[in-house]
Amino acid sequence: MSHREAVGGLWDEIGELQLRFLVSQGLEPGHRLLDVGCGSFRAGVRLLRYLEAGNYYGLDANAELIDAGLEHEVAPAGLTERMPRSNLLVTSEFEASRFGVLFDVALAQSVFTHLTANQIRRCLIELPRALKPGAVLYATFFECPDGHPEEQPLRHEPGGITTFMDHDPFHYREEDLRRLADGLPWEVTKLGPWEHPRDQRMLRLVRAG
Ligand SMILES: C[S@@+](CC[C@H](N)C(=O)[O-])C[C@H]1O[C@@H](n2cnc3c(N)ncnc32)[C@H](O)[C@@H]1O
Repeated sequence: MSHREAVGGLWDEIGELQLRFLVSQGLEPGHRLLDVGCGSFRAGVRLLRYLEAGNYYGLDANAELIDAGLEHEVAPAGLTERMPRSNLLVTSEFEASRFGVLFDVALAQSVFTHLTANQIRRCLIELPRALKPGAVLYATFFECPDGHPEEQPLRHEPGGITTFMDHDPFHYREEDLRRLADGLPWEVTKLGPWEHPRDQRMLRLVRAG
């Protein structure tokens, strides 16, 4: 199905990985979760089953991916009633505060990998307005190690994806992302390997109180 390919394929593997990772980090069914760049609900279909009804929210720039996910993934799985349409927002500017609720956990899987630095900065400005103090944003990125010239293409293994400094898919140094969080209420930690099949790394950003 094309919506599955549009979010990168590996539908079951990366969907399961996201759920397993979040549960390993302490996600509980009673938490309210925001899926930033939710796409067609690759993680969403699993999170909708795990979380209490109404606790999964998603935002994405692409309305077609959301609609395809609702029609071809969420409805056939019998999960439509667990997610009111008001839990979904089409926006490219990350204004999660428009939901009018505060979140315990947010996830941006394979999203910063497609964003410019200024778009990441906007995301990091907007999200704290919708997170409880102590809430966590988990965000994946392609890492450019210190030994690699950032202006050169970088091939990642496993997965064989080539990333770039100045076009999509992007790589960043850890320090670039720390700088993008400067002056904002975040405490940033890079986590260790989390078994991503395309070598994306995981940042943990805690919303400071
Ligand atoms: C590779 S897909 C990953 C989708 C989902 N996180 C997953 O793991 O299946 C990247 C998603 O980010 C969304 N996206 C890209 N730029 C965005 C922006 N500025 N605001 C919101 N979503 C964006 C895309 O529309 C797409 O759904």
